[in-house]
Amino acid sequence: MANLLGGIATSHIPAIGVAMDKGLEETPYWKDFFDAYPPVRDWLYTQEPDIAIIFYNDHGLEFFHDRKPTFAIGASELYENADEGWGIAEIPPVTGETELSWHIVNHLIEHDFDITVCQEMKVDHGLTVPLTLMWPGHKYGHIKVIPVAINCERHPMPKPSRCYAFGQAIGDAVRSFAGDQKVVVMGTGGLSHQLDGQRAGYINKPFDLYCMDKIVNEPELLTQFSNYELVEKAGAQGVELNMWLAMRGALENEGALKELHRSYHLPISNTGAGLQLLATDSAR
Ligand code: DHB
Ligand code: FE
Repeated sequence: MANLLGGIATSHIPAIGVAMDKGLEETPYWKDFFDAYPPVRDWLYTQEPDIAIIFYNDHGLEFFHDRKPTFAIGASELYENADEGWGIAEIPPVTGETELSWHIVNHLIEHDFDITVCQEMKVDHGLTVPLTLMWPGHKYGHIKVIPVAINCERHPMPKPSRCYAFGQAIGDAVRSFAGDQKVVVMGTGGLSHQLDGQRAGYINKPFDLYCMDKIVNEPELLTQFSNYELVEKAGAQGVELNMWLAMRGALENEGALKELHRSYHLPISNTGAGLQLLATDSAR
């Protein structure tokens, strides 16, 4: 049985990748933000996960508005990045995984999640910025990644409760996999932000802190929101909370979780940037 070590939720703002490429981590604007990451990196270093399942949203690199799967999962040996216009430097490819990935795909179909399976896909900042944050210098080649893209750009989007249930099904699939791999789940994006329109620049700190409080042990208080309510409370792109909920859903059947780390910085670029580490019993 593969073993779930825990979950990490983190912002994926493209400017973070640019700041790391340019070595700006110690500058006044960035210092507090980056100072929050070493405890999570240390946990990863100690726990040595073999596989990372990463819930992210593709902002238009692989799936533009003309073809937007609700849920897509990668089953490839390798994932390339490409220039999306945010000025992030060219980065090494992401190592893929196929055995657990196909096991998850089969489990999902059996449990009524009819996903899109991608044997080839490009991955955008939603996936690569968090990987670079966890393993600076783009030293993430050793970890096998299963990208799971959730539509967060084009309405209609899957509901928060559905994203949670989707994550839960993936967690169950991991536990039913006949291997001894150690698996970490990640949810990227959020928290509140709106990049354009009349409310551009909108951030809701009290709501972000509420989400970080409740996601630990009362996620049902968050999954009851509609996407419309999330947009109201957290801005048009605040629906990226759904990736955090999918990550938390994957840990639903793991019993009580321990929050090992939390930080929140405001604003980073246009966004309330959160970081949170939730460990299962096996990885405290
Ligand atoms: C920003 C945030 C995002 O989640 C994103 O995908 C792109 C940009 C920002 O705050 O700049
Ligand atoms: Fe985003």
